[in-house]
Amino acid sequence: MVYFSCILGFWIFLLHGYVTGYSKQRTSESGSVRNCTIMPPHLPPTVTNTSERLSTLRQLMRSHNITAYIIPSTDAHMSEYIAERDKRLSWMSGFTGSSGTGVVTLQKAALFTDSRYWIQAERQMDCNWELQKLVWISSIGEWILKEVPAGENIGLDPYLISIDDWKSYNQALQDSDRIPIPIDGNLVDQVWGAQRPPPPTSKIYALPDNFTGSTWQEKVSNILKQMENHIKKPTAVLLSGLEETAWLFNLRGDDIPHTPVFYAYTLLTTKNISLFVDVRRLSEKALQLLTAQCLDSLCIRVESYENASAVVTSYAQQDGVRIWIGTEYTTLELYRNIPQEKLLAEDYSPVMITKGVKNAKEQEMLQAAHVRDAVALIRYLVWLEKNVPTGSVDEISGAHYVDRLRREELYCHGPSFETISASGLNAALAHYSPSNTTSRTLSVDEMYLVDSGGQYLDGTTDITRTVHWGEPTPFQKEAYTRVLMGNIDLSRLTFPSKTSGRVVEAVARRALWEVGLNYGHGTGHGIGNFLSVHEWPVGFMSNNIPLERGMFTSIEPGYYQDGEFGIRLEDIVLVVEAETKHQVSETPYLTFKVISLVPYDRNLIDVKLLSQEQIQYLNSYYETIRKHVGPELERRQLYEEYRWLQENTKPLSPASLMAASLGTLAMSTLASTLVTGV
Ligand SMILES: *[C@@H]1O[C@H](CO)[C@@H](O)[C@H](O)[C@H]1NC(C)=O
Ligand SMILES: *[C@@H]1O[C@H](CO)[C@@H](O)[C@H](O)[C@H]1NC(C)=O
Ligand SMILES: *[C@@H]1O[C@H](CO)[C@@H](O)[C@H](O)[C@H]1NC(C)=O
Ligand SMILES: *[C@@H]1O[C@H](CO)[C@@H](O)[C@H](O)[C@H]1NC(C)=O
Ligand SMILES: *[C@@H]1O[C@H](CO)[C@@H](O)[C@H](O)[C@H]1NC(C)=O
Ligand SMILES: *[C@@H]1O[C@H](CO)[C@@H](O)[C@H](O)[C@H]1NC(C)=O
Ligand SMILES: *[C@@H]1O[C@H](CO)[C@@H](O)[C@H](O)[C@H]1NC(C)=O
Repeated sequence: MVYFSCILGFWIFLLHGYVTGYSKQRTSESGSVRNCTIMPPHLPPTVTNTSERLSTLRQLMRSHNITAYIIPSTDAHMSEYIAERDKRLSWMSGFTGSSGTGVVTLQKAALFTDSRYWIQAERQMDCNWELQKLVWISSIGEWILKEVPAGENIGLDPYLISIDDWKSYNQALQDSDRIPIPIDGNLVDQVWGAQRPPPPTSKIYALPDNFTGSTWQEKVSNILKQMENHIKKPTAVLLSGLEETAWLFNLRGDDIPHTPVFYAYTLLTTKNISLFVDVRRLSEKALQLLTAQCLDSLCIRVESYENASAVVTSYAQQDGVRIWIGTEYTTLELYRNIPQEKLLAEDYSPVMITKGVKNAKEQEMLQAAHVRDAVALIRYLVWLEKNVPTGSVDEISGAHYVDRLRREELYCHGPSFETISASGLNAALAHYSPSNTTSRTLSVDEMYLVDSGGQYLDGTTDITRTVHWGEPTPFQKEAYTRVLMGNIDLSRLTFPSKTSGRVVEAVARRALWEVGLNYGHGTGHGIGNFLSVHEWPVGFMSNNIPLERGMFTSIEPGYYQDGEFGIRLEDIVLVVEAETKHQVSETPYLTFKVISLVPYDRNLIDVKLLSQEQIQYLNSYYETIRKHVGPELERRQLYEEYRWLQENTKPLSPASLMAASLGTLAMSTLASTLVTGV
């Protein structure tokens, strides 16, 4: 799935902008959005009345002597997906989009969000809130300068702000005599009170041995070795990202939607390992796994989750200690208690980086998960082919069906993100997910895009296919084929080890650029073993780490025609050694191996545009799909799907295209003799 995070570079999307799509949708459905310019205002039934909660919040603000309060849309671990109890901005404003910032002053309330969410915000917010179509912290700062008199304070919860954002707010308000101050105890939570969803109580469980890449002791030893080898000699590593702790100890939970993690922090020192978690939630096996066997003299102490900050603070007071943190995931609360000279701050913790390179067993598991995932998606595509022409499928029922097919697969724990099921112009919104008000009926006259994935005990999956069951326009075919060419060109690229993804990502755009087309999002992201679907720091952005053997990333070029259609072709690939003619470098060159195993839509491929190499590549990819998925379909007695697979993975050649377009049997016989010659 396309990644858009405030921290990690979704900004590129603003270059593309949805402004045209926004105005088109808006004018056609104006009754469904609020109108605050008339008296009384027009408020659709989808808005939340926030008068009372704002009034209570303002009382609390006065008692803390602050004039503005900042409400971010993340949790204390900078998670991409957040639990209901962390949806403070949604509760306060009514706006349920996943990205945005709220600022409440004594007189006003403003929501800052990007173009993906403008219509949604107008549907969900009452007239207490103004919509600010800006997202940079510098523009939030400008608004604050306008609304907050000099000499007053701006409050925020130190648990909900990253170090980088804290620095940006300070910079934006620098020398303005308006001071951001951390306020202990979240004010929104106090207003929310007993209605706030309680903390989770579900069990935190140990991954079965056959689903772990290595034991926690092996992982901890590896991290300790990296600490020892680091020239700054850190004595501790602090883990704030939820998938860091889950990965390190081979534990999983279900505190957050779509990602099998649980609320925790870890402080791993050279003397002690502290795991901050609600101990009552650890399953018997998990507790036993953690505490039965110490690593040399290192044992795990399970401490209360709430105590993480206090313990880090007291550790940081000791002489000769130095704490290694990743700034992308550490919040101001933990950071502000560590004296500068005791801090080793890098973008990512060593756990984050180590997790990005999968060992042989992890690689094997992720590939196995993708074979079963291909079965689910192929079943869906076959079902669509039969049911779309009857007009009985809409975006929502389609999404539910593909989710259900995945759940039937072995080891599946549900989707790895909310399925993007988008028909026609809805697919032009790259991050669209269907709702009752927007869902379209799938039709043979429109292109359909499905971007979905699963959480399996052995691996996380993410794949996008775009299809058309009728007559695509020549432009749609060209755009699709060029997106496919970009996917192929990057997938078959050979490059030196440690090349940064940013350096090669334009290869996926070249075929589009050639004819003046482009896409406004990133080209790919890392993925986990039963962890995050967007696993940082692997990928193709400037803040990703260099590509190495054993990493997995998505490759997902696309093309979006505002108000008409959207195309994206996404596969997961593994970074492997390449066989090069010459081997002058000490470290072998690298290339990608595609592990997603679902054919593309032949109806949308204009073979004439493909080079000989691209056709060869595609045919060998199809051969791989047949080899890995074919037997699985047969074993499961999915004969219809098996036949579909054979049909859709037949070798392509320029000649077979000619035959197809002429549509005569005679030509096709002639063509197949030509094919053998290719
Ligand atoms: C609000 O209503 C007024 C008066 O009917 C109209 O002129 C204006 O365009 C409306 N604004 C929006 C945002 O719908
Ligand atoms: C919102 O709720 C308050 C009471 O909490 C009420 O006085 C006000 O009229 C409501 N506003 C609207 C627009 O319904
Ligand atoms: C509130 O903050 C202002 C500005 O920092 C300060 O002058 C004032 O003394 C504070 N009042 C209280 C009650 O803390
Ligand atoms: C892992 O072990 C469990 C129980 O021991 C078993 O049910 C499962 O089939 C095994 N899975 C694999 C991939 O070996
Ligand atoms: C482990 O940490 C605890 C508290 O932080 C401390 O009391 C104890 O002495 C530590 N153990 C060792 C072996 O350093
Ligand atoms: C929190 O940590 C402090 C200092 O390490 C300790 O004295 C206290 O007992 C801990 N509280 C809980 C609830 O674990
Ligand atoms: C959408 O429609 C379905 C079926 O009519 C209904 O069950 C569901 O509650 C609706 N969802 C929303 C958010 O309105």
